[in-house]
Amino acid sequence: MTCDKNPEKIKSMFEEIAIYYDKVNNLISFGTHYLIKYLCVKELNIKPRSMVLDLCCGTGDFTKLINKIFPRAKVIGIDFSANMLKLAKEKNPKGVFLQADCTAIPFSEREFNYATIGFGLRNIENRPKAISEIYRILDNDGMLLHLDFGNHNKLSKIFDIFVSLLCKIFKDSAQHYEYLLKSKQEFPTPEEIISEFEQEGFKFISKKDFLFGTISAQIMQKKPKQLGIDAHLLKHL
Ligand SMILES: C[S@@+](CC[C@H](N)C(=O)[O-])C[C@H]1O[C@@H](n2cnc3c(N)ncnc32)[C@H](O)[C@@H]1O
Repeated sequence: MTCDKNPEKIKSMFEEIAIYYDKVNNLISFGTHYLIKYLCVKELNIKPRSMVLDLCCGTGDFTKLINKIFPRAKVIGIDFSANMLKLAKEKNPKGVFLQADCTAIPFSEREFNYATIGFGLRNIENRPKAISEIYRILDNDGMLLHLDFGNHNKLSKIFDIFVSLLCKIFKDSAQHYEYLLKSKQEFPTPEEIISEFEQEGFKFISKKDFLFGTISAQIMQKKPKQLGIDAHLLKHL
């Protein structure tokens, strides 16, 4: 059976788990997730005075790291869970956060030079819409960093066994661990994700694997659509 990613259900799940989200992240990643996020953000090399949108910002790790590493950039974190945003603001009082849906981003075309989305796309039912929204708000040649689970390899299977074990120990939150497992197993490989972004008009720039590829980051760049090869425009001709 496929994973139910009804946006209302996903939103209420994150509202519910917000309070222990960071602790669980530390537990299931053996404390490595923050370092991985740090290395990814650093790789972006954000230019001063750039506008950055951190999508599905959750408790704001990316937003905070961008503020810290590139203090001359302006970053806004968006997420549809009020409880996750509340924690993000507590962790980073100077950070700018906004409650918003990534499939209907409340910003105009080409407002941002960079976008980041970490462990977010996997939870979005209408992935093509989110990708087209990221394309829309990025300026031409704008850069996108996407981070999530990567290849389904041996280490990833060990992770699955560990999470299954947590399901048995923490029976009250078993459904959330089960969702994590299912969404991870159904999530496309990094190559498939890159291809989804390329179909929208992004150019693949680089890929960085962590923990033997269990976690994977990809950097892509928005290329302006040319008249004649724009599939969206063609539909209306
Ligand atoms: C797994 S958390 C990732 C949080 C953070 N980026 C990190 O790496 O720790 C996923 C986040 O995406 C948010 N989310 C899921 N679907 C969304 C949507 N359609 N619009 C906005 N936020 C969404 C959830 O509320 C949740 O905070």
